[in-house]
Amino acid sequence: MSNVIRALRREHADTARLLGALERQLDVFDQGARPDYDIVQGVIDYCLAYPDCYHHPKEDLVLERLRQRDPEAAAAIGDLRPEHEALAELTRRLADAVESVLREAEVSREGMHELAREFLDFYRRHIAMEEGRFFPAALEVLSEQDWQEIEAQLVEREDPVFGGQPDQRFERLRRDILAWEKADAEAAGNAGTS
Ligand SMILES: [Fe+2]
Ligand SMILES: [Fe+2]
Repeated sequence: MSNVIRALRREHADTARLLGALERQLDVFDQGARPDYDIVQGVIDYCLAYPDCYHHPKEDLVLERLRQRDPEAAAAIGDLRPEHEALAELTRRLADAVESVLREAEVSREGMHELAREFLDFYRRHIAMEEGRFFPAALEVLSEQDWQEIEAQLVEREDPVFGGQPDQRFERLRRDILAWEKADAEAAGNAGTS
């Protein structure tokens, strides 16, 4: 297994945890209550700082190499770059909408709901496509040397929320997510034994 793909998969798993945190807040919002906007903004800041700046460019590199080695396999995946740009754009739109709410500007509840839903669905669809089609194709086609050359172009940056040296500004987000996951695991355990 390539180290690059192993890292990309771990990053997907981490991103999925962040999306789960955002979805919790969307559920609160949908029930008519005020979500925890520190969490919402934390997830948005994470997406702008990590997937958009680091994870997506890494995947673009892998796809570029796949295109050189097997244009047909790459064509079957399509172009990831516009999807990555669309995700970044959607993230910025969500950031703007949240800022408007916090400034107490007029933002429709439906509009906010739709935007957050679109963001979550798009991210999850994108990750599922990469896991299901892109990574398997890259693993099948690229050689050990390809992976080494890709790795040589990368500057490894650990996840700022779940990595070994978490960024201080995400500390609360990290703590809350770990607490929710623990509570969910305990609830699942209790449900399993009852
Ligand atoms: Fe991607
Ligand atoms: Fe990805």
